[in-house]
Amino acid sequence: MAKLWIVPAPVGTTFAPAPGRDRLHGGNQRGRRRGPHVHENRGRRRRERYNDPAMAPEPDPELFREAFGRFATGVAVITSATATASGGMTANALCSLSLDPLLALVCFENNARTLSIVRESGRFAVNVLSAHQEEVARVFASKMPESEKLGGVAHRFEAGLPIIEGALSWVVCSLRDLIAGGDHTIAIGQVAAMDLGEGDPLVWYGGQYHDVRLRVER
Ligand SMILES: Cc1cc2nc3c(=O)[nH]c(=O)nc-3n(C[C@H](O)[C@H](O)[C@H](O)COP(=O)(O)O)c2cc1C
Repeated sequence: MAKLWIVPAPVGTTFAPAPGRDRLHGGNQRGRRRGPHVHENRGRRRRERYNDPAMAPEPDPELFREAFGRFATGVAVITSATATASGGMTANALCSLSLDPLLALVCFENNARTLSIVRESGRFAVNVLSAHQEEVARVFASKMPESEKLGGVAHRFEAGLPIIEGALSWVVCSLRDLIAGGDHTIAIGQVAAMDLGEGDPLVWYGGQYHDVRLRVER
C-alpha cells in the first residue's frame, strides 16, 4: 500500500479567516462569546426548526461556497481548441467518472468562454497543475482575452489539444455528453490520450492556493 506524508506549506498569502471567524476553530465564534448556555439553546432551536421543513431557513449561498471550500481539491486547467480559436479555464469541479469506458467529467459555468470552444471542437483536455504553477492557474482563472491566455503560457499540442508544459498529468477527452446543471453544464468526455508529468500538486483549499508536498512510498 502507498504511504503518504502530507506536509502543508501554504503558497502566497496565508489563509485569512472571514471577519467574526476563528482561525483555529474555523466556525463563527459569535455564539461562543455569549456563553455556552446561549449556544446550546440556539442549537436546540435550530434543530427544532430543521425538523419542520416549513420552518427551515433558505440555504445561504455564501455558506454553501464556504462549506465546499473546505473540500480540498487539486487544480486543473481545461483547454480546448478549434481550427480558429483556442483557450482554457482553471477548474476544480472535475473528476474521473468511469473506468469502462474511461470517462471524465468537468463542470463548466454556463458563461465560461472555454465551454463555447468545447461545444464547437467536441474535445477538451484536463491539465492537472503542479505546485509551481499557481501563476498559470491565475491566468486561466482570469477574463483576459481567450486567445492571449495560451499565448503567455508554454504549451504543446497532443492529440490536437493544447497541453500545458510542466503539468502533473494530462488527459485528452472527446466530448460525449453535455448535461444541464443549474448555472453550470456538466461535460462528460471519453478519454482519448493521457500521460503523467513529475512533481507535487497545486491544491485549492479555503479559497487559497496551497503547495502540499506529497511523498509517495511504493
Ligand atoms: C481554483 C478555481 C477553480 C475553479 N473551478 C471552476 C470550475 O470547475 N468550473 C468553472 O466553470 N469555473 C471554475 N473557476 C472559474 C473559472 O476559472 C473562471 O470563471 C474563468 O475566468 C473562466 O474562463 P473562460 O471564460 O475563459 O472560460 C475556477 C476558478 C478557480 C480560481
